[in-house]
Amino acid sequence: MKFPQNFVWGAATAAYQIEGAAHEDGKGLSVWDMFCHNAKAIFEQHTGNAACDHYHRYPEDIQLMHRLGLQAYRFSISWPRVLPAGTGVVNEKGLDFYDRLVDELCAKGIEPYITLFHWDFPYELFKQGGWLNRSSPDWFAEYTKVVVERLSDRVKHWFTLNETHCYIYLGHLTGLHAPGLKLGINDVLLAAHHTFLAHGKSVQMIRSYTKQPCLIGYAPVGFTSIPASDLATDIEAARQAMFNFQGAGFGVNSWWMDPIFFGRYPEDGLKMFQQWLPPIGPEDLQTICQPLDFFGVNIYHGTKVTAGPEGKPQPVIKEPGRPLTAYNWDVTPEALYWGPRFFYERYQKPIIITENGVSNIDVISLDGAVHDPQRIDFTQRYLRELRRSIVDGIDVRGYFHWSIMDNFEWNEGFKQRFGLIYVDYPTQKRIIKDSGLWYQKVIESNGSII
Ligand code: GCO
Repeated sequence: MKFPQNFVWGAATAAYQIEGAAHEDGKGLSVWDMFCHNAKAIFEQHTGNAACDHYHRYPEDIQLMHRLGLQAYRFSISWPRVLPAGTGVVNEKGLDFYDRLVDELCAKGIEPYITLFHWDFPYELFKQGGWLNRSSPDWFAEYTKVVVERLSDRVKHWFTLNETHCYIYLGHLTGLHAPGLKLGINDVLLAAHHTFLAHGKSVQMIRSYTKQPCLIGYAPVGFTSIPASDLATDIEAARQAMFNFQGAGFGVNSWWMDPIFFGRYPEDGLKMFQQWLPPIGPEDLQTICQPLDFFGVNIYHGTKVTAGPEGKPQPVIKEPGRPLTAYNWDVTPEALYWGPRFFYERYQKPIIITENGVSNIDVISLDGAVHDPQRIDFTQRYLRELRRSIVDGIDVRGYFHWSIMDNFEWNEGFKQRFGLIYVDYPTQKRIIKDSGLWYQKVIESNGSII
């Protein structure tokens, strides 16, 4: 059975994870460039200095995307490559790179979907407090304007921020990610609030300076709960687990989504965090809650829950030996049914799966190919569930596989391989994996082979 007509089949990357050229052509430093200097931060001290060398190899990479029949490509812009100090003087060579990239995509009939912030925060602005600084939303708005003025004649799909929860929580509370801070809850909530303001101001900038009608979204991580059964009590328990605070955790979707889609923080969250809340200006939530055209969301896995006493969600014990990815993530295809269903039900916006994929132990076999049946099986199972959500009335517009190519997986360095295309880092040789050839058929058949 096919997916809807005009369903968008794509794949995604992020600047720091693939570009390399970290110190080239006038690019400024990002917090990830600096974080990689911390000897204990990254697996085997890998860095994004070269990454996949996409900065120089983008014509070849786009040719490969074209070979796979990709209809759309979601990539991010490196803020410090465009504005080395984060604000002020534009690095024309940096902006020219994205100009050429967009031209190459358009020439190959691949729709560019741009993410403006995918974690590579300008180091010069980090030194001024980063997202903790009340001016950070204005810094981001200024950067948005520069990019939109240059690219919006050809780009009409925009995401403001990718996974602020990850950037704020892992980068400012646990220190696992750049900028490697271990701050108190009050500072974490302050930084989060400023990213929401940055999102709102960025949307206003895009709307004001775009050179054509465009569609704007946001790409949060989607914490997904899966009901243990089809019993109404289990479904309600899963819904509660996704949007209600069960404790002082940060992994509740409503905190990261309600301000942006409803213009208010969730009441239970405000109560939970009341002693640590940041100053929230009278117009802040009005600025944050700008009209959006779709609900982008990154979903990789979900947690099975059942209704406990008084219907409260209880996680289901995870059985030993259950399927796990190379990253030790659960394989839970139903997440791509229940996630879209619950998000659509609550936020009433067309859904785009902005990331979904799997890390796998991929190697070049003796025959020179990269055989990755696990990725094919994983993706087929998840896409079947996504299609089931569509059959049940969920308005899903597109799917971006993470990722088109193996790349720098943050603190895991190059250990985790998510690509449909294998990257041999020492030689930078690309090899389309079996999953890439399979995905080409999925796109060609609009999903009917799944
Ligand atoms: C994320 C980021 C990506 C990751 C991918 C695999 O969702 O964490 O958007 O940059 O590389 O998700 O972890």
